[in-house]
Amino acid sequence: MDQVVHDVLLVGGGGAGLRAAIAVAETNPGLSVGVVSKVYPMRSHTVSAEGGAAAVIRPEDSLEAHAYDTISGGDWLCDQDAVEAFVREAPKEMVQLEHWGCPWSRQPDGHVATRPFGGMKIERTWHAADKTGFHMLHALFQTTLRYPPIARYDEWFVTRLLVDDGRCQGVVAIELATGKVQALLAKAVIICSGGGGKVFRFTTNANIKTGDGMALAYRAGVPLKDMEFVQYHPTGLPFTGILITEAARAEGGWLLNKDGYRYLQDYDLGVPEPTPVKRSMELGPRDRLSQAFMGERQAGRTISSQYGDVVHLDVRHLGEAKIDKKIPFVRELCIKYQKIDPVKEMIPVRPVVHYMMGGIQTDLEGATLLPGLFAAGEVACVSINGANRLGSNSLTELLVFGARAGRAAAQFAGSQAAPSSALMAQAEDEERRLYRDFLQNSGGSERVSPLRDEMQDAMEEGVGIYRDEEGLLQAEDKIRELKERFQSVSIDDKSLTFNTELISVLELENLLDLSEVVVSSALARKESRGAHQRTDHPDRDDDNYLAHTMAYRSDEGAPRIEFAPVTITQWPPGERIYGS
Ligand code: FUM
Repeated sequence: MDQVVHDVLLVGGGGAGLRAAIAVAETNPGLSVGVVSKVYPMRSHTVSAEGGAAAVIRPEDSLEAHAYDTISGGDWLCDQDAVEAFVREAPKEMVQLEHWGCPWSRQPDGHVATRPFGGMKIERTWHAADKTGFHMLHALFQTTLRYPPIARYDEWFVTRLLVDDGRCQGVVAIELATGKVQALLAKAVIICSGGGGKVFRFTTNANIKTGDGMALAYRAGVPLKDMEFVQYHPTGLPFTGILITEAARAEGGWLLNKDGYRYLQDYDLGVPEPTPVKRSMELGPRDRLSQAFMGERQAGRTISSQYGDVVHLDVRHLGEAKIDKKIPFVRELCIKYQKIDPVKEMIPVRPVVHYMMGGIQTDLEGATLLPGLFAAGEVACVSINGANRLGSNSLTELLVFGARAGRAAAQFAGSQAAPSSALMAQAEDEERRLYRDFLQNSGGSERVSPLRDEMQDAMEEGVGIYRDEEGLLQAEDKIRELKERFQSVSIDDKSLTFNTELISVLELENLLDLSEVVVSSALARKESRGAHQRTDHPDRDDDNYLAHTMAYRSDEGAPRIEFAPVTITQWPPGERIYGS
């Protein structure tokens, strides 16, 4: 088997991965860096982020205000030391990104433009129209090209972490173009491969978001933290799940029920408090808005459509000129994928799975509990998002913590010996597994797509916006059954060139592990907090659950769930308060 050796290896070539790669190269230009990505980096999911990235810039704003909005929005489950570092370093990262070429939208006087965003009491969301992720990813990608030590492995799929002597020392990956299985050895590995929204059917997430990095770390014994917290975005297109950005509401869009009524006025979106800027009810936090949709549905005030119940997002009153200037992508997406023009028609929307607040447990430098393994971005849980992420914090998170993880990994790698020779035996073992279980196995009675469909249905049914013990136990049984049936899966395509069926089966294996962790974590948390709403335990219970869940892989089958303390520095738990 071939092997290559780098000092630092990135798994994932999206925003966090590229930011981390640049940080490694800047920290120690003598280190060689490999970026492994299952897609070409510009196709990473960061590209589809729309509304913006939060960082303090306006005179009436402060780091304390950004921290407080984040912590209260996260229903006090955020680690406050991580949030403090985040808000402090965010403005610098945003300016840095401009210097690397990101075209932030401007006010007429030339200052950076901001827009309000859900749950943020002061405007601090920088944006590039409504194609923010696209421009950020471009700026990062082109910047990596300036650093010769950064080598890329585009369209390589990582199947296993290599661990020896208690330290992560590389990965095994398949080159999709040839089917070659190869060891990529390194002194430090940073996972930046994004979340796993595809455990659910209706999601804003691209098909590539299959939780690969989370599953790799979990199987290597690293805990996944707070995985029960799955964010629904209140406005996805029905059927496709394509995101209609919160920016549409920030610019003045309304949410209307079947009677054309702005129903959010009837819901408790948080205790009202006067704010410097009058804010629309449509900019409440995502968890509360998604719950309000469920309330309308239960009361029979949603609109039935071919793809389930919807409400309307109305932006017609903004006028064509403003729509084209501020939210052109919303118009483009509606015309292309929904066959409606939002200048003239209302947009049908429904809550769709958008983001995982949980992920690989890391410290503030992105280090996991496995020496040599780091993580940043959605795949990680550092944790600044707590029980409910505020929109526009995640693009900034991938910059701040991507950079931190890159710097820390560079320092770690600089002090390590070369990867050990024992790793090649593990890598060859992994290659044998791939051939034995998939490429040379024709006997299985199960196929990928029915298993994936059943998994997604079980998760939608039992682990959605509202959960209870009975539904969660049913989902748990179903996922166990599917994991059992996965043992009999086979693929029909045995070829080596761009074998997408092979990749699908490996992604499904990851998704099944992730689903099981989400369900077990949700069962363990017998309270309601942020995006985790248990109808059988409707209140937040700080006495027993002001704690992170930590899911460990166990040989007994079900994940082992432990609890870890939340770091509180300045803001003791309180009520969530939003402007009216
Ligand atoms: O609605 C949006 O543009 C999403 C932003 C985010 O999730 O941060």
